[in-house]
Formats: sequence, C-alpha cells, structure tokens
Amino acid sequence: FIPPPHCSLSLSLSLSLFFSLSLSRSLSSPPSLICVCVLPQISEALVSLREILQQLTNQRALIEEDIHVSFEELHKTLDVRKSVLLMELEVTYGLKQKVLQAQLDTLLHGQGGIIDTCTQTEKALSGEASAASLQAERGLGEKLGELASQGLPFQAEENDQLDLLMEAEGLRKSIHKLGTIITTSAVASQSEASGVGLEQCIVGLPACVTITTRDKAGGPCRSGNAILSAEVCTPDGSVADGEILDCKNGTYDFVYTVNKEGEFSLALRLYDQHIKGSPFRLRVTRSPDPEGAKRRGKSPGSGSKKKGSRRTGSALGTSRRKENPIEDDLIFRIGTKGRNKGEFTNLQGVSASSSGRILIADSNNQCVQIFSNEGEFNSRFGVRGRSPGQLQRPTGVAVHPNGDIIIADYDNKWVSIFSSEGKYKAKLGSGRLMGPKGVSVDQNGHVIVVDNKACTVFIFQPTGKLVSKFGSRGNGDKQFAGPHFAAVNNNNEIIVTDFHNHSVKVFTPEGELLLKFGSNGEGNGQFNAPTGVDVDVNGNIIVADWGNSRIQVVSYLDIQYQRRCDGVGVLCW
Ligand SMILES: *[C@@H]1O[C@H](CO)[C@@H](O)[C@H](O)[C@H]1NC(C)=O
Ligand SMILES: *[C@@H]1O[C@H](CO)[C@@H](O)[C@H](O)[C@H]1NC(C)=O
Repeated sequence: FIPPPHCSLSLSLSLSLFFSLSLSRSLSSPPSLICVCVLPQISEALVSLREILQQLTNQRALIEEDIHVSFEELHKTLDVRKSVLLMELEVTYGLKQKVLQAQLDTLLHGQGGIIDTCTQTEKALSGEASAASLQAERGLGEKLGELASQGLPFQAEENDQLDLLMEAEGLRKSIHKLGTIITTSAVASQSEASGVGLEQCIVGLPACVTITTRDKAGGPCRSGNAILSAEVCTPDGSVADGEILDCKNGTYDFVYTVNKEGEFSLALRLYDQHIKGSPFRLRVTRSPDPEGAKRRGKSPGSGSKKKGSRRTGSALGTSRRKENPIEDDLIFRIGTKGRNKGEFTNLQGVSASSSGRILIADSNNQCVQIFSNEGEFNSRFGVRGRSPGQLQRPTGVAVHPNGDIIIADYDNKWVSIFSSEGKYKAKLGSGRLMGPKGVSVDQNGHVIVVDNKACTVFIFQPTGKLVSKFGSRGNGDKQFAGPHFAAVNNNNEIIVTDFHNHSVKVFTPEGELLLKFGSNGEGNGQFNAPTGVDVDVNGNIIVADWGNSRIQVVSYLDIQYQRRCDGVGVLCW
C-alpha cells in the first residue's frame, strides 16, 4: 500500500490528536491509514466547523444590530411619550391658569373700583355738607351698590390639582426582562428520535416522532427553540406535510401525514445536520381496516393510478371527470426532481407576475426559480443561509404590483423582499413571525403573511410596519388548525387554506370571518389537507387539495349565494 503524496502531512499530526479523533481505531494503525481515513475526515470537519463558526459570528453581528435598533426604537417611543405628557401638562395648566387668572383680574378690578368709590365717599363725607356733596354722596352710594351687585366671583372657579400618575413599576419589570438571547447547546450527533412514526405510518393518518435534543456530552437539553427540520421524501419529492411542535423542554414532536404508500426516507435535521440515525427508513402502508382500504382504493388520490397518466390526462379531479364541467387539459408542465436549474426539490409556492413570469419557491433547493409564461427556465436566485438576504426554507412567493418579489422563509421566520432582478432589499416580520408559509399581496399593496406556526394571518406594509393581524390556534371562528397559504380576491377578501381543518376560510380585509367551506373527505367540495390557493379573474377560488392529489375550483357565485342566504355559513354543494 502506497500512501498518496499529501499523506506525509500526517506525520506532523500529534498522537494525542490522532487518538482523540479516532478512538475506535486500533492503536497499531499504520500511519498510512491515518492519511487515508482520518485526514479527509479532519478536512470535512474543518469545513463544517468553519462554516458554523462563520455563521455564529454573522449571527452575533446581526443580533447586535437588532438590539441597537430595537432599543433605539424604544428610546424614540419613550421620547415621544415624554413630549406628549409635557404637552398635555402645558395645555392642562394653561386652561386652568387662564380661568384662575381671569377670576383674579375680575376680583382685582372689582376691588379697585370699590376702593376708589369708598375713598371718594370718605372724601365727600369729611367735606362740608352741602347740597352738592349730598348729591355726590347719593351717587357714590348707588355706584357702590352697583359694584357690589355685580356678583364678584368670590369662590375659586378652578382648582390647583395637577398630578402625575406613572404606573411604571410593571413597565420597569418588563424592561428588566426585555429581550432574551435564544440558543441551545444541542448537537445533532447526540440528539435522537423515537416513536413508531419513525419507522411506519398509515396513509392519511397523522403520525408522530419525538425528538430529544442533547448536548455534546449527551446530557438532555431542557429548553426549547432549537432549529429543527423534518422531511419525508422519495426521489420524486416530498410526500408528507407536518409540523414540528416545540414542547419547550428540549423535546420536539414532529407530527406529519403521508399521502401515499411506499418506502420513504425520513430525514430529521438539527441545525442542518442529521441527528443520530437520520435519515430513517419509513414504511407507509394503507389502513389495515379492509373496508377503509377498499374505499380509499377507489379514490382519485389513491396513488393506485400511474402518476404520468394522471398528470397528463388531467390536472384537476379525475374520477368524477364526467361531472366536471371545467376544461382541464394540461398546457405544459415544468421541471423534474433535482438540484439543477429548472429542477425542484420540494417546491412550495407559485406566483405569476404581471409581466408574464412564473415564480416558484423551491424550499429544499433554497431558491426561487423563474420561468417564462411558456414554461422556459429563465433564472433563479437565492443563497442558502440564516442572514438577511439569504434563504433557508422559502415556501411562499408573491409579486408586488411594484415588481418586487416577496418570499416567506419558513425557517428564517421572516419575509424577504427582493427586487424584480433578485437583488435583496429588506426583510419584514423578523422577531414576530414564527413560521411564515404563504404570502400574498392585497389591493392596497399590503403583504399578507400566513404564519403557519402561530396560526395567524399578518398584514404588513411593504416597509415592514404591521397593519393588523388575526387568528389563533383552534377550531373556532377566526381560528386556524394549520393555515398554509392565502389569496386575495377583487373585494380584497382574504382566502386562507386550513390544512388541518381541511377547509378554506374567507375573511374581510378587517379579519372578520365571512364564510368557511370544506370538510375532510374525498367528495366534491371536500378536502384532504388543502395547501395552495388562488383566485381567478372571475373570483373563482382555486384550491390545491394536496391529500387528494387534485385541484378544486370553487365558484364565487355559489359563495355569494350562500352568503346572501346564511350570512356566515358552510357552502353547500
Ligand atoms: C416535555 O413536554 C412534553 C409535553 O408537555 C411531555 O409530554 C414530555 O414528557 C416532557 N419531557 C420531558 C423530558 O420533560
Ligand atoms: C374544523 O373546524 C370546525 C369548527 O369550525 C370543527 O367543528 C371541526 O371539527 C374541525 N374539523 C377538523 C377535522 O378538525
């Protein structure tokens, strides 16, 4: 065995480093083995470590900037409040002072008049008694009576109260606790997953995997907020959708649903690194209940048909094709699975610009790809990372009327704005959003963001200023079980798909629920985990019925009819 020439380097490796790096290797390994086996490992580890270190340093700079900006804003807010209070004090003082001063002047004036008259009266009395002086005395008496009867204001017409109530204690306490540096010591190589959902699950039924994060010594991490990602895929792309729930005690639940049977790879990553044992082999079977299997076997989304025939035959519902009045011939299709230009790995959002471009958010290739209206690859942009301007998991994409490209980045927890040429401009919602999935633009040019994790719809100005928000987790009005994407119609109404509630909800621009439609199932108007949504020029609502592998088009006329009859109601089919 002849070591490659660069292996002479290994001689300079200290033995202790060698031992610590390859404990499992026998002590008698010849130096040449070190060259071949350990050196590449070291190089790889170095690259990875340098990348992590670089990212950490970038992150520090970003957070530093964020802290400065946030506190400057707080200072500004405090200064504004201070000015307002000072002004209020001035105005209140001024009003009261005016009243009191006027009263003072009146009294002084009255006092002056009476003193004058009294003096004159005294003079008159002390003088010679004459007809003239008697006449004058009478006149003065009348004048005094007149002055006295004017009703001088003896009672104060204002009070002297000017107090300040500053309930600052609570605020001070909040300020003491304001801001938290979030991190964990979790490392992927020690973190592990458990649960039956790691090995098998049943088509259409939710499965669960629990991930326990651990530090470098294998000790359990006790706090949440680690950055995890999960993916179930085949060579054809992603087949599951799910959510990672942070239990806030160092464990995380990945709850997911797969929509077809087969053998898949389940990848669980912590800070972009595979955790222990990942990727796992996942076996997805049909329901063991034979009735269920038979029923499902006939469904359009059963996967029993060949993919190709389904795709080319019809982009819309298939088994009920005769009832389907809509022409659904495929015009063209774009892309295959892959990492090159014009290829996709788990594509999510799609949007068309008014200039005839088709934009696609490719979440695992961490970029946005742009095609012509004829389906030809045009360009792509996006640099993987966690800094502003980089993309970690782009899921939603929308084009602003001004041409800007708006991208919801699920893992970076913010929305990025790029120029139409793909030049980074700004981010919005940072620190507020938990898992932005879909974006849309309303008639006012506001950015509508569907926060999947927060179960909230946020409305921002393109500058990043929050206009309003609505929604919380739940099954009530104005609540979502798992909102995914949104569209806006010509009435500026906001249409949101609720993945876990298997429904579509329509809201006024103010966030009041107008109506919801859909329930879980395979029939017309039923959904199985709806994802994408859009509106055509006639206001018809187009819904990607992900779990049923079809697109459904809902007539806007039906919806209006229903609204007239019922107000808020469930759409009849
Ligand atoms: C963490 O929290 C979850 C949910 O609250 C709970 O089921 C689990 O037992 C907890 N695990 C530990 C290790 O405390
Ligand atoms: C969806 O929400 C409704 C209430 O709006 C609730 O009655 C229903 O059970 C939910 N469906 C599912 C599948 O959670």
